[in-house]
Amino acid sequence: MHKIQRTVTVVSNSKVCPQYYRLSLDAGSAVNEARPGQFIHIRVTDGVEPFFRRPFSVFRAAKTMDILYDVVGKGTEILSSRKRGDRLDVLGPLGTPFCEPAPAVRQVVMIAGGIGVAPFLIFSDFLKKKRVEKILLYGARAQAQVFDFKAFRKNGVEVFASTEDGSVGVKGRVTRLFGKIRQDPQTTMLYACGPKPMLAAVQDFAKGHRLPGQVSCEEVMACGLGACLGCSIPTVSGYKTVCHDGPVFDVHEPCF
Ligand SMILES: Cc1cc2nc3c(=O)[nH]c(=O)nc-3n(C[C@H](O)[C@H](O)[C@H](O)COP(=O)(O)OP(=O)(O)OC[C@H]3O[C@@H](n4cnc5c(N)ncnc54)[C@H](O)[C@@H]3O)c2cc1C
Ligand code: FES
Repeated sequence: MHKIQRTVTVVSNSKVCPQYYRLSLDAGSAVNEARPGQFIHIRVTDGVEPFFRRPFSVFRAAKTMDILYDVVGKGTEILSSRKRGDRLDVLGPLGTPFCEPAPAVRQVVMIAGGIGVAPFLIFSDFLKKKRVEKILLYGARAQAQVFDFKAFRKNGVEVFASTEDGSVGVKGRVTRLFGKIRQDPQTTMLYACGPKPMLAAVQDFAKGHRLPGQVSCEEVMACGLGACLGCSIPTVSGYKTVCHDGPVFDVHEPCF
């Protein structure tokens, strides 16, 4: 049986671009358990505040378990101050991962909005040996959220970027890049992670072109284990928990 709770050690914690940090953890055997789309639930402090753990997608699980994160509030602020050698209490990897593309799939499209890019490096590690076209459509607000995509390219991923201010790539939202998607339901598979409006746009596109896909959803979490129901979201088949039923759902399932 997999151990769920662990104390892990910070190996490094530094910025990869003006807005995002990469935290590498010595997480022992957990690196072999992590699947693309899963998350770890981190207790960012030994103190009382913030009381609840914070969830982060696994960015890479190789020698270390890595997350990519944006500082948006108290929990991530504290996380950004953690130094090499610090110990953290972590649950996971948790949640339902992305499925593998079906054998007939010839184009895998990863669609990421901002920090929603986090689950896709580990996904591209898993897809590296598959003889399929792999593209990443990355939409950011500005250059401050654009980092070096070398590791994606090394895995054979072609990266296309858009920024809302036009500082990198195509000017506008990530939907401006949807022209790169082959509209063939038999051979194209979409995977998306990002803010709700972006996921809603991906869902509309998938519906319009009858494309299969999956989306990774976000919700504020407490237990992270499917017990408190605090992270429930409406879906076409009733309420489901993001932490346990998700975070990955069929693209047609969530009601955005
Ligand atoms: C499955 C999952 C995977 C995630 N992966 C990543 C990741 O790889 N990298 C990353 O930077 N962030 C990720 N997040 C979001 C991350 O958990 C939140 O940004 C973090 O919990 C904020 O904590 P905080 O204390 O800094 O901010 P808080 O002070 O708690 O909140 C600051 C702001 O962020 C919003 N917020 C807080 N938690 C969430 C949440 N879970 N979803 C959406 N909005 C939230 C709040 O409403 C508020 O507006 C993920 C969330 C989920 C559910
Ligand atoms: S956070 Fe408790 S059920 Fe998801």
